[in-house]
Amino acid sequence: MDKSYQNLIQGNRLFAESKLSQDPEYFKKLAQGQSPAYLWIGCSDSRVPANEITNTQSGEIFVHRNIANLVVHTDTNLLSVLEYAVNFLKVKHVIVCGHYGCGGVLAAMSNNYHGYVDNWLRNIKDVYHKNENELNAINDLTKRAERLTELNVIEQVRNLAKTTIIQKAWSIRELHLHGWVYGLDNGLVKDLSVIHDHEEDIDAIYRFNIPSTK
Ligand code: CO
Repeated sequence: MDKSYQNLIQGNRLFAESKLSQDPEYFKKLAQGQSPAYLWIGCSDSRVPANEITNTQSGEIFVHRNIANLVVHTDTNLLSVLEYAVNFLKVKHVIVCGHYGCGGVLAAMSNNYHGYVDNWLRNIKDVYHKNENELNAINDLTKRAERLTELNVIEQVRNLAKTTIIQKAWSIRELHLHGWVYGLDNGLVKDLSVIHDHEEDIDAIYRFNIPSTK
């Protein structure tokens, strides 16, 4: 078997041993259930692992990842994760985390053909189109990509706020939405402060009159 595969198995053994040496009950406790305070919606990029970059452990973050951290309202996977995290796990925070140097954002900025994924990246092209004047005014392509990365995160947070799942949660409790961009070159997160905690933050046409529930 090739070495990269064996490394994984070996790594897992080391992980399990190390946790048990610190706390013999570690896995028994984890197996009893989860109550994470955060839902993470991040990029699939291997360099942006939710737990590692936030110095958190198993059980602390419920995670959904896809190419370029998109919140697409017809994505049944994302919506199922969101519903479960919000309604059943009752997370307190939902974080959309993009990252500078995102291959998905760069691909969406170009006119190159990639295949099926271009349909997914269309969502980022729409963000570009919406902010065309601001983006086209940035001559440096790296800086333009960085700004598009930020605008994409902002748009995805807004997309969250437009869902019935988030609006229903807001009608009964506090739930915070956050937009972050992670720097691959410095390991730091930038909070874009696009917080939508209130219905008023959503354009009128996207607001639902949520029936009152007990
Ligand atoms: Co990415």
